[in-house]
Amino acid sequence: MALHFSSACFSALTLSKVPTVRAVASDQSSTAVKTAGEEKLKLGGSELKVTRLGIGAWSWGDTSYWNNFDWDDRKLKAAKSAFDASIDSGITFFDTAEVYGSKMSLGAISSETLLGRFIEERKVKNPEVEVAVATKYAALPWRLGRESVVSALKDSLYRLGLSSVDLYQLHWPGIWGNEGYIDGLADAVEQGLVKAVGVSNYSEKRLRSAYDQLKKRGIPLASNQVNYSLIYRIPEENGVKSACEELGITLIAYSPLAQGALTGKYTPNNTPSGPRGRIYTPEFLTKLQPLINRIREIGQGYGKTPTQVVLNWLIAQDNVVPIPGARNAEQATEFAGAVGWSLTNEEVEELRSIASEIKPVIGFPVEKL
Ligand SMILES: NC(=O)c1ccc[n+]([C@@H]2O[C@H](COP(=O)([O-])OP(=O)(O)OC[C@H]3O[C@@H](n4cnc5c(N)ncnc54)[C@H](OP(=O)(O)O)[C@@H]3O)[C@@H](O)[C@H]2O)c1
Repeated sequence: MALHFSSACFSALTLSKVPTVRAVASDQSSTAVKTAGEEKLKLGGSELKVTRLGIGAWSWGDTSYWNNFDWDDRKLKAAKSAFDASIDSGITFFDTAEVYGSKMSLGAISSETLLGRFIEERKVKNPEVEVAVATKYAALPWRLGRESVVSALKDSLYRLGLSSVDLYQLHWPGIWGNEGYIDGLADAVEQGLVKAVGVSNYSEKRLRSAYDQLKKRGIPLASNQVNYSLIYRIPEENGVKSACEELGITLIAYSPLAQGALTGKYTPNNTPSGPRGRIYTPEFLTKLQPLINRIREIGQGYGKTPTQVVLNWLIAQDNVVPIPGARNAEQATEFAGAVGWSLTNEEVEELRSIASEIKPVIGFPVEKL
């Protein structure tokens, strides 16, 4: 994959001279402040409206990548508290997948099952609570044909304990072709099993073709979920983001915190545990520090944390919905503070410019299919 970086880069030296005093964040002013729950966005051309950011549930029940290969009652309680804290702070959009936490991916307990339970338990307390659930179909090589999509969706609905989901996405492109899967998505809409449909990890070419095929059946392609963060801006370079803008498809940004690397808590002397440690190495985190320092400095001007600044940076990219993963209540609550205020255009560009000095880590190879 060719990586093109902006030549107009700021050096760390130049940046240290940029004034740190900023306008007061809009959520500190008295008028027109929208909370995480009030601000909603329509997903692409669909009728589905979701909160300005969602919560990723990959780590819930997963023991192949997260949780140090172990799942216990304490982690279960933390995941449930993340769910409840999200709802309490107004974030009601959740992203899961049939493979998260499943036996297929060597998980302990399905993320869909957990999410379904959390929703059910919450509904006992707040019957009026409205949660938007997104899940995904795994385009496994032995799954062929449109029927496999509706059949997998029904299994997901069973685990979730729901009669329909809000968004159903193809998790990655199929290696034998995608026409059958796209027809399967449309069938799911027509059968009333989903409100909106999307894809994930789709290249510009595949995105356009999925969009055209659904359009022939009168169904909008609502979203493309791709890896997108301040330090992984490949969608800006491979045509995916501009195609989303042109076709009116919402870009759902996964790993928006670069799996924790952009929160500022990991340093060359404190790398993440498990498989993440092999990606976010001490060398990488050393290169990241000038960017983290500037993010922190900008955040201080608004009374915001680095996590809130990097999520706000993504929200500033228009028609982008970040779905950070929350493992506990504190993390979920912090996300809500990323909404209701805005970085200035200068700050958005300055951060992009510093970030362009850093070579991105390797992404999910299916993006190039
Ligand atoms: N479609 C796809 O192929 C695909 C691929 C990847 C992800 N996704 C989706 O995107 C979601 C998010 O992506 P992700 O989980 O890979 O990465 P992420 O959202 O960039 O990072 C999540 C991790 O960052 C850390 N973190 C979160 N909030 C924090 C805070 N406030 N302060 C400090 N650390 C914090 C947590 O890990 P620690 O506390 O352990 O550091 C958390 O698990 C997933 O849950 C999933 O729904 C989709």
